Amino acid sequence: MTTTTAPLTSAKPRVMSGMRPTGGLHLGHLVGVLTQWTAFCDTADAFFEIADLHAYTTGYENPQAIRDARNEMVAVWLAAGVDPKKSTIFLQSAVPEIAELQALLAMITPVSWLERVPTWKGQIEELGSHVATYGFLGYPLLQLCDIAIVRGERVPVGRDQVAHLEFGREVVRRFNYLYGDGSEVLVEPQPTLTEFAEVPGTDGRKMSKSYNNAILIADDEETTTKKVRSMITDPQKVRKGDPGRPEVCPVFALWKFVNPLKLDGIAEGCRSGALGCVADKTDFAEQLNAYLRPVRERLAVFRDDPAQVEAIIEEGTARTREIASSVMLDVKRAMKLL
Ligand code: TRP
Repeated sequence: MTTTTAPLTSAKPRVMSGMRPTGGLHLGHLVGVLTQWTAFCDTADAFFEIADLHAYTTGYENPQAIRDARNEMVAVWLAAGVDPKKSTIFLQSAVPEIAELQALLAMITPVSWLERVPTWKGQIEELGSHVATYGFLGYPLLQLCDIAIVRGERVPVGRDQVAHLEFGREVVRRFNYLYGDGSEVLVEPQPTLTEFAEVPGTDGRKMSKSYNNAILIADDEETTTKKVRSMITDPQKVRKGDPGRPEVCPVFALWKFVNPLKLDGIAEGCRSGALGCVADKTDFAEQLNAYLRPVRERLAVFRDDPAQVEAIIEEGTARTREIASSVMLDVKRAMKLL
């Protein structure tokens, strides 16, 4: 059969990734995900999705929070350097082909495959039975549809998402086997396992909004300084003069991202006792604020211009829908719906 492959703007690989609009983007997102997304703007034909439907799978009781987070999240992406002229930013719920594809792929998706994905049972345990919905069970299938609807070839994800991708690849194989008539109607997406740097929060655990230990991109400088002052350090280093262990200190771990040139000197001062934690944190808070300042300044500009952010999302969504409708034609032809 013939496939109406959407024209690629170039021979660059098509990269697709998304983020749920849950608010509170932090330093971990910036140094982990967003620096990579920014790089993909040059090396790939990249699609970045506001995964608002995914946010509803667990946050359906708070639609306003999801709505409020939508444009704010995109403003942060743009402030971090994601270039809408060299990539496509789109809104999941405004591409109805995604939901349509999900309904069709649901026909061939065994429930047992979905129940086997670790996040299903894990999140019910963590968040409670209110997330045990049909929609949340289908989370990984919806994620596959996000990717398949733009023929995404590569998906930069963290380790926690690999099981979703593996599931998605199985569904694609099953689809192509059942309906492909020897050809690849849907593309098997490859995870690009990005070793997202583990960014510790103020309490030393992984930085996460839900742990309340995050340094937010949207925080002001004073709040940032206060949070840095409250950070835990090596518990064995009680006062200046005590030898410390930089390898267990979250402040030291964050220095790596903010000013790697200072690492050796700080490690030495910490170990010898010459550098105290209070002085180190004071210095770090200043450098962290300086590091975040340009991003925060750009964020303020995008916040002041919501029409520009809206226009970027609309344009990207329109481009996505063009590709999506051609993919749906292929899918429906393969399934004998057309
Ligand atoms: N599930 C992803 C996360 O929680 C977000 C996401 C939604 C996504 N759709 C996607 C990531 C498609 C990659 C591709 O991080």
